[in-house]
Amino acid sequence: MMMSKIPQHIAIIMDGNGRWAKEKGLPRIAGHKKGVESIKQIAKKASQIGVKVLTLYAFSTENWSRPEKEVSFIMSLPSVFFSTFMPELIANNIQIETIGNIEALPEKTQEAIAKAKAKTAHCTGMKLCFAVNYGAEQDIVMAMNRLREEKKEGEISLIDLKSALSTSIFGANQNPDLLIRTSGEQRLSNFLLLELAYAEMYFTPVYWPDFTVEAFDKALANYAKRDRRYGGLKEDHVNEN
Ligand code: FPP
Repeated sequence: MMMSKIPQHIAIIMDGNGRWAKEKGLPRIAGHKKGVESIKQIAKKASQIGVKVLTLYAFSTENWSRPEKEVSFIMSLPSVFFSTFMPELIANNIQIETIGNIEALPEKTQEAIAKAKAKTAHCTGMKLCFAVNYGAEQDIVMAMNRLREEKKEGEISLIDLKSALSTSIFGANQNPDLLIRTSGEQRLSNFLLLELAYAEMYFTPVYWPDFTVEAFDKALANYAKRDRRYGGLKEDHVNEN
């Protein structure tokens, strides 16, 4: 069985914006601004090589505890991002999606997101999904509550649970094949906990604003060398016993 060496679904924890800025003597928000440029480059590249879903952790349910000024700056980014990047999104046939509790975001942020979704609704290529106000634990609880209503006393299967998570919008590509986290941290931080069950993990010390297409290529090359077994045996050992 030949497996595709291009991950169908890539999830990225875009970390290190603040440290990137600090090391340059800039305010933290300058790091987020530069980080948006990385998003554009990586999204284009991913779409060109045939990735089906790119999920980016933009704002976690825990990020509200940051200084109000930083939070409101991050909340203004979708509007900047989508307005400047829309022609390229459409030219690349990229569809915008989100996961997370969007309704709790500032009105303007919600509007920018809704507009971007509407404008790319016809795009059939890669789904570019922003996890905004997202937490995997909260998503699982939401799914369980929804299923409890539906199932009453009935048993809940793994398929039921997966289909009630917000990532069910990705259909067959619900589970990321590859998780990338930048900036040297090696943890999941409440991102896609169930969906990452069998994902390959790639950690790089590069800060997100410095994560270029070349750095992305390195991650992909590393992924291509991995031997994914999903708890089974390596192909050439299957008939040994
Ligand atoms: C991590 O760096 C980055 C964030 C918490 C937010 C990043 C969000 C964006 C770049 C864009 C979101 C926008 C859209 C288009 C929906 P950090 O601040 O945790 O860095 P540090 O660990 O060095 O402090």
